[in-house]
Amino acid sequence: MKLAVDTNTSTAMAFKLMFSVALLLSLWSTAECDFLVEGVLRLECRDRYFVIAVDLAATGEVPRFEAVDGTGTYAITEHYAAKCGYTISILSLLGLVELRASYFSCHTERGAGFSFRFNLITTYKGVDAYYALNKTCSSPLPWSPREVTCEVNYMEVSVRSELPCQSGLSDVWSILGPPYSPSTEDWQVTFQNPDEQLPPMNLSQARQQGYIFDLVHDRIVFRTPYGQLDSYHTEVTGIPVEVVRATLFSRKSWVVVMVDLIAACSKDEGSYDSGYMIWDTPEALYPSLGKTQISFGLNGNLMDQAAAAQKGFIMGRSNSTVQIGIPYNAEGGYRKSFVSDGLFEFYIFNLDLKQTSVDERHEETVVWFHRTLVTPLLSSPLFIEDQTDVEDGTFSINLGKVPRDVELTSVQLNGQEFAVPFNDSIAYTLTEVRHSNKSHSYTLKVPLRDPIVIQEFSKENAAMLHKLDINYTLIVTPGDEPYYHTISATALMAAPPPSFDVVCTESGIDFKLAYRSFDYLWDFMIGSDRLTPALAANHGYTMSNDSQSLLLSVPLFTHGYKYTDIGLKGFLGTFTILVRDRETADILTSTTKTCLFNTTEFIMCSTNGWMTVAVEMPAHSHLVNSLCVPKEADGTRVLFSFPLHSCGSTVKLAKETVTYQNKIYLDTSENAVEGMTVRCMYPLASLYRLFSLHKFESDEEGVGNIIPFVETTKAVPATVTPAVAPQITRTPSLPLPPFYPTVRYIKVYRVQNQPGQISKGPKGNLQVKKLRYA
Ligand SMILES: *[C@@H]1O[C@H](CO)[C@@H](O)[C@H](O)[C@H]1NC(C)=O
Ligand SMILES: *[C@@H]1O[C@H](CO)[C@@H](O)[C@H](O)[C@H]1NC(C)=O
Ligand SMILES: *[C@@H]1O[C@H](CO)[C@@H](O)[C@H](O)[C@H]1NC(C)=O
Ligand SMILES: *[C@@H]1O[C@H](CO)[C@@H](O)[C@H](O)[C@H]1NC(C)=O
Ligand SMILES: *[C@@H]1O[C@H](CO)[C@@H](O)[C@H](O)[C@H]1NC(C)=O
Ligand SMILES: *[C@@H]1O[C@H](CO)[C@@H](O)[C@H](O)[C@H]1NC(C)=O
Ligand SMILES: *[C@@H]1O[C@H](CO)[C@@H](O)[C@H](O)[C@H]1NC(C)=O
Ligand SMILES: *[C@@H]1O[C@H](CO)[C@@H](O)[C@H](O)[C@H]1NC(C)=O
Repeated sequence: MKLAVDTNTSTAMAFKLMFSVALLLSLWSTAECDFLVEGVLRLECRDRYFVIAVDLAATGEVPRFEAVDGTGTYAITEHYAAKCGYTISILSLLGLVELRASYFSCHTERGAGFSFRFNLITTYKGVDAYYALNKTCSSPLPWSPREVTCEVNYMEVSVRSELPCQSGLSDVWSILGPPYSPSTEDWQVTFQNPDEQLPPMNLSQARQQGYIFDLVHDRIVFRTPYGQLDSYHTEVTGIPVEVVRATLFSRKSWVVVMVDLIAACSKDEGSYDSGYMIWDTPEALYPSLGKTQISFGLNGNLMDQAAAAQKGFIMGRSNSTVQIGIPYNAEGGYRKSFVSDGLFEFYIFNLDLKQTSVDERHEETVVWFHRTLVTPLLSSPLFIEDQTDVEDGTFSINLGKVPRDVELTSVQLNGQEFAVPFNDSIAYTLTEVRHSNKSHSYTLKVPLRDPIVIQEFSKENAAMLHKLDINYTLIVTPGDEPYYHTISATALMAAPPPSFDVVCTESGIDFKLAYRSFDYLWDFMIGSDRLTPALAANHGYTMSNDSQSLLLSVPLFTHGYKYTDIGLKGFLGTFTILVRDRETADILTSTTKTCLFNTTEFIMCSTNGWMTVAVEMPAHSHLVNSLCVPKEADGTRVLFSFPLHSCGSTVKLAKETVTYQNKIYLDTSENAVEGMTVRCMYPLASLYRLFSLHKFESDEEGVGNIIPFVETTKAVPATVTPAVAPQITRTPSLPLPPFYPTVRYIKVYRVQNQPGQISKGPKGNLQVKKLRYA
């Protein structure tokens, strides 16, 4: 029952596989129902044989067959099949079992036609089920004088038994009786090989040795399995051929009748060359006048040469050899993937070929070949295309040329396994496309910045290398042998700029950056100045910078702050660090932090000429110009906000500075006045616009002071007090803190967000006018 092909290891392997696949199929099947339904079973009469095809998936285990005739039932074993003209092919790739029975097979009943009866036996859970099948095939294609069948497992020759008319002995067979019957004792057979003529034996002896002789209608039939003792192997035009020469003879008194029965079959197993399965047979297997006629095809569909050529088959003749080339992907061939230290494929073809020759006496010989040809294992490379587009921010990897019987079952991404199809809850996608050529492909998409992607800095590219190792698990179906296909995908992306950890403290903002290996790529900027130890020292920042981290503490009212929402409840202070590419000087990102500060007393001298001051004083306080009252008061504190040169301010020009001063008065008694002197001092150099354009616009914030004073007599306006006030003792009746430092806070503030105080118009113009008319 095994197909008789076995010499090279890959084919042997392929067949082992076929049988294991057959077993596997049987394990799958759970069908208990009657499988003899339409499509599951086919009975067909062909030119020279009858065929039963059974769908394996429906029967479970590979079924067995018995031949049935009037004398009983005969199990068709491998040995019995070869002797009696049966062939069982297990086409596991198709999930098909095929029984071919020669019209001359042992248990064919001949009447008007050829009647076949078989039992098909399936086993389910250890219990056999029998199905009786029968079919009668009538009037096959007319027979040629000599016909030879080179089956997969036997050779069969039949010759027309009429003797030539001129011999006058045309009725000799009726005299002698058929060669295989109880009355044929006197028929003898002798075999010849090139070296010797073997001694004759009678037909029952021959039968015991596996040969069968028979008379069917008007034809003498001789059949032999391959590899019998009396057969021999030879080469015809370089092609291996197995030959059996039998001479059947009978002597009745003075009449001797002899019939030569020669079975000769090409034993070429085929070879694979450049996409074609090649099979050879000698032109002159039997005597031929000129060329033989060839028709061939797969699975019993014979075509003439032109039709075959149109389907891509090749037929060539050279050196008295007929050569057939079957394209590897020919329709009717079977393809199977195979995993063995790589992904392979092989193809199986059931080649049928009819070769007709005519000898010098114009007698026709037809040879019918059935050959199962198997290609060696061919590598079946998958196709990987990295379609990643960094702009899309996604790895996109296409795995293509996946054969139709190979499925992707899981994917490992950097060692982490994901079953296919992917769970909807994950961020990756896998799209399958089935192509018309029956291969399919899978496209995997994984975001480049997904945590599963390994990112490492590449010094040589000064960029981040994103790495994704993909290990595909593919399974050949049916089966469970996995094939792993791995690729390493990489993509370069610009290194991500850093961002600081920031916290608000009571007196400022702390920035912290834990260095990554590539953070040398950036400069940090405060406004337009690069942050350096010198700059930090200059502006009163506290900075520490080691290989691990950068710490920067920015005290309130130092350079770089912006203030908004200023009120008695506090104000918002905002500080920004810019990140600049050291190479290109492009600003890439920034870290901005806004904190709420609830400092009780402060003074801010803005670049556009406003003084804003909060001090602890009762609500009924006022400035030098007593019409200027607090903007806000809460009982213990007041907030004034006014243009520098209004409300009775005095201006003092020194060598390098301009100082604006006002006073906050609190009337305490008839002749004593207490209060605060408030001052904003600007470097002259930063106020050049004041003198050229009459526009107050300082390059820098002014420096503010709040200095308490006590005057014994009212004097309005007060004169400018010294920059450093004397320590004073306060009267206990005042709800003021016992001690005021001479210098309080130093502020900045740019126009922003002071509703109601500064017009939204071109800042400064308004102030210029006030300056002029103050
Ligand atoms: C042949 O099979 C048919 C059913 O297909 C059945 O009716 C018939 O009896 C069978 N004949 C024999 C001789 O078994
Ligand atoms: C065939 O030959 C064997 C051995 O020579 C003999 O025993 C046997 O009887 C013969 N059979 C017939 C049917 O002649
Ligand atoms: C034909 O056979 C001869 C001798 O066997 C050989 O030298 C020659 O190469 C063959 N030609 C072809 C086309 O195979
Ligand atoms: C099948 O078709 C697809 C799409 O046209 C192609 O990419 C692929 O290479 C083909 N596969 C084979 C095995 O030719
Ligand atoms: C998909 O993921 C969710 C959440 O992780 C889980 O509950 C669910 O069982 C998963 N589904 C499958 C088919 O694995
Ligand atoms: C792919 O995954 C399989 C199964 O986990 C493993 O045996 C194999 O070593 C992996 N291949 C590579 C190259 O990592
Ligand atoms: C911190 O130190 C590194 C290494 O000495 C130096 O390259 C970098 O400029 C320093 N950063 C700052 C902000 O000073
Ligand atoms: C300022 O706010 C902090 C916390 O928000 C609070 O603990 C503190 O008492 C406040 N100080 C003043 C003077 O309101």
